[in-house]
Amino acid sequence: MTKPTLDLSGQVAVVTGASSGIGAAVAKGLGVAGARVVVNFNSDRDGGEAVADAVRQAGSDAIAVGGDVSDEGKVENLFAEAKRAFGTVHILIANAGLQKDAPAEAMTLADWNKVIGVNLTGQFLCCRAAIREFLDRGPQPDVSRATGKIVCMSSVHERIMWAGHVNYAASKGGVMLMMQSLAQEFADRKIRINSIAPGDIRTPINKEAWDTPEALAKLLRLIPYGRIGEPEDIANAAVWLASDHSDYVTGATLFVDGGMTLYPGFRDNG
Ligand code: BGC
Repeated sequence: MTKPTLDLSGQVAVVTGASSGIGAAVAKGLGVAGARVVVNFNSDRDGGEAVADAVRQAGSDAIAVGGDVSDEGKVENLFAEAKRAFGTVHILIANAGLQKDAPAEAMTLADWNKVIGVNLTGQFLCCRAAIREFLDRGPQPDVSRATGKIVCMSSVHERIMWAGHVNYAASKGGVMLMMQSLAQEFADRKIRINSIAPGDIRTPINKEAWDTPEALAKLLRLIPYGRIGEPEDIANAAVWLASDHSDYVTGATLFVDGGMTLYPGFRDNG
């Protein structure tokens, strides 16, 4: 039996939306764990290259590849570049995502379609490309017990409804059943598919929720654990879900949220 390990050396990971925020931290975390990393970015080439440099400085290898994940051709190119550089792919972190918030009565179709396109369809296109590569390559038991591992980046908003963000909440609710359906479909092919549901993490996407003392104090009322999350909190979870330490875990959503989904408003009898 292969020894369960957090060590990812010998493995190749594709991380989408990795030029900043959670994706950047996950790419670096996987690199520190020994994986070679394909750092996908959309428009921020400098950010993507800086993350690839950081992975190389950590002693692994990396390339940065541009491409909007909602564009089928760009996703095909991303995986072609990964194979050209590193031969195959063992790990996908389908992370790229965005918000375009508006009250529902004012939300444009363009903003609905953009968020669903990147957060849900984009994740599907990346999952499909990764699954095709895992099936083509087949098992490599000396490298990992699973033939392939996928981590979808969901959100506490796959569970918590979110007024003013209906496109985003719908996209993450969609990610939940997409992930579970794919996990059911491919478990017998030894492909493990799970999600991480981050709560409030200190990144550019939610800057207005933490960058003033007043905003932070309001935010902390929603977080029983009493601190905002850091991108490294998510990176640590992603390394575990990508590693053989979680080999019996598939179809699961791991909430990394300081207890945000524990309904803290009910602590004092509601
Ligand atoms: C959103 C953040 C939000 C957090 C908690 C995340 O999925 O992207 O903007 O602060 O959920 O509500």
